[in-house]
Amino acid sequence: MGQIFNRSTNFISKTTIFGAVFFIGITIWMLLEFNRSSYYTQAFFPREQPVQFSHKHHAGDDGIDCRYCHTTVEKLAYAGIPPTKTCMNCHSQIWADSPYLEPVRESWRTGNPIKWTRVYDLPDFVYFNHSIHVNKGVGCSTCHGRVDLMPLTYQAASLQMEWCLQCHRQPEMFIRPKSQVFQMDWPPAEWAHSEDNDERTNSNTGHRGIRRESGREESRRSSIFYRRFSIINPRSSILDRPSSLLHPRSSIFR
Ligand code: HEC
Ligand code: HEC
Ligand code: HEC
Ligand code: HEC
Repeated sequence: MGQIFNRSTNFISKTTIFGAVFFIGITIWMLLEFNRSSYYTQAFFPREQPVQFSHKHHAGDDGIDCRYCHTTVEKLAYAGIPPTKTCMNCHSQIWADSPYLEPVRESWRTGNPIKWTRVYDLPDFVYFNHSIHVNKGVGCSTCHGRVDLMPLTYQAASLQMEWCLQCHRQPEMFIRPKSQVFQMDWPPAEWAHSEDNDERTNSNTGHRGIRRESGREESRRSSIFYRRFSIINPRSSILDRPSSLLHPRSSIFR
């Protein structure tokens, strides 16, 4: 063979084999990454809506309770999207002439419901029940992100099976007292800074010490969860890794 093939071919054939293995590896990796990228899952892209409804105005600035509009979230499988009547409770009086509200008034006049575009939409074969999660102490923001800061609603989690499972493996890591389910900025900001005055709190009151301890633990755990599964940088594109946190109060989870 030596006569036919030059020595350098050994080198070439080795490189091609390694090259092929490397290439296949990279391709698989890219496909997996693409599959969980926000480009594919549609996470972080606000949907086009018939009315520019802002949770930031209504839930954040005006402090309207989630349950005022999503009335069945604690009782049924689905949270429910409010009927036009709910909007008109206020908007027959305030902002009654706003051009932005014309689709709402039209719906009220004609009786045709507003056609909202779904933001969170699982495939039909997936069984998901809100009341079970909410009553076990999983907060809205754990799954939906800081809705109270969103001018337009977007999907804050991949909704892939991997996301459900990651939590189900250790659900105790992601639950909070039931009274805090609607609290958007959980865990409280001051818990994140508890390291600074650890000793003081522990020697003062054992009780507060324990509470802070678990708060810190909670922040640490949720930070891992969010980095990996929910809060992906909205600006990064196809091959993104969950790299930075989205919300202004991101320091809570660090
Ligand atoms: C004044 C009524 C109102 C209040 C209060 C309100 N929402 Fe909504 N919500 C809506 C409307 C209308 C939509 C449909 C339009 C949209 O997606 O933005 C919606 C959509 C949503 C969606 C996406 C639904 C989908 O299409 O999959 C989520 C999640 C949500 N709301 C969570 C919350 C949370 C959490 C709170 C409390 C912090 C809250 N909402 C408070 C009216 C309200
Ligand atoms: C509890 C009272 C209340 C309810 C219920 C309510 N809104 Fe509002 N809405 C407000 C207030 C107050 C503002 C002004 C918000 C601001 O600027 O901070 C507002 C502002 C708006 C605006 C912006 C209007 C403009 O000209 O800038 C839109 C659009 C809107 N609401 C849509 C809706 C829709 C759709 C619903 C029903 C799902 C709804 N609202 C339910 C109180 C309400
Ligand atoms: C364990 C995760 C989880 C929690 C906690 C959660 N949601 Fe959802 N939510 C989802 C998923 C998943 C969907 C999509 C359901 C579907 O497509 O069938 C959804 C859909 C919705 C919708 C769209 C309408 C509907 O009924 O499907 C609204 C509104 C909503 N959630 C509001 C809330 C509010 C308000 C809270 C807090 C009380 C909350 N969610 C807590 C995961 C969650
Ligand atoms: C952040 C945490 C979290 C996420 C995300 C989550 N779950 Fe759950 N899920 C829970 C907890 C907590 C329970 C209650 C477990 C228990 O009772 O021991 C539960 C229970 C369930 C149950 C059993 C309820 C029953 O009927 O007994 C189903 C089914 C379920 N989840 C489906 C889903 C699906 C589908 C998704 C993804 C779309 C999802 N969950 C995402 C926390 C989560």
